[in-house]
Amino acid sequence: MNRLAGKIAIVTAAANGIGRATAQAFAREGATVYASDIDMDKLNELRGDSKIEVHKLDVTNNQDILALSKKVDKVDILFNCAAIVYRVPILDLSEEMWDKTFDINIKSMFRMCKEFMPKMIASGGGSIINVSSVSSSIRAVQNRCAYSSTKGAVLAFSKTIAVDYVNQGIRCNTICPGTIDSPSIRAYVNSCPDPEKALKDIAARQPIGRLGKSEEVANMGVFLASDESAFITGSEFRVDGGWTM
Ligand SMILES: NC(=O)c1ccc[n+]([C@@H]2O[C@H](COP(=O)([O-])OP(=O)(O)OC[C@H]3O[C@@H](n4cnc5c(N)ncnc54)[C@H](O)[C@@H]3O)[C@@H](O)[C@H]2O)c1
Repeated sequence: MNRLAGKIAIVTAAANGIGRATAQAFAREGATVYASDIDMDKLNELRGDSKIEVHKLDVTNNQDILALSKKVDKVDILFNCAAIVYRVPILDLSEEMWDKTFDINIKSMFRMCKEFMPKMIASGGGSIINVSSVSSSIRAVQNRCAYSSTKGAVLAFSKTIAVDYVNQGIRCNTICPGTIDSPSIRAYVNSCPDPEKALKDIAARQPIGRLGKSEEVANMGVFLASDESAFITGSEFRVDGGWTM
């Protein structure tokens, strides 16, 4: 408890899955959390937590980002989590799908960092945690053309921030999850002709033999957000049940 006491955190995509579990874990550890998403129905479920303030924020919308920024003077932790996935190879991917994936998955991080890093620097620094995936430059996963391209970019982007701002107290690290049980994974499984088999197949990808839990990714988020990881920057952390070992 209280590993993040006194810290102020911003989390994108906090309504569901990894972002939601992370917002809740940050709050449990004593941070004041600005939890944001476009899914207000699910986000509003977090309103009961006195440490969490919810905000509608589309990561592709500069006005939304500015509106949140006006409410927050100091930022210690930025958890960039929003992403979408089209499960198709290049020949089934339109330019519109490619652009949308890049806009939500990586340009969003550029926008959020541009807006909130000056506030971090002004108060002596902070921790930026960008969510990538093992499906990136780390390993090839079928039918992830645009998605994996953005997630590889997240890894490179995070290292550039780490190296450029290390002397201003900014740490920037990346989490690369394996297959994590989340609403989007469940939606994918249920869209398969044989959902039971699909679930078994994606669980079997992890040598540990199951899907990960959002809370298990959130645990890594807490560590990287806290001063326990004060000597760590420019690194990537796989939370993947051994998928890439
Ligand atoms: N679940 C997995 O197996 C897995 C694996 C590797 C990486 N990841 C990454 O973890 C992150 C979270 O994934 P998840 O599966 O836990 O969540 P999810 O896919 O179930 O939910 C995604 C959330 O993003 C929000 N979102 C979508 N577009 C947005 C936008 N324009 N602005 C703001 N919010 C928006 C949605 O409303 C939703 O709440 C993503 O970056 C994803 O790529 C997930």
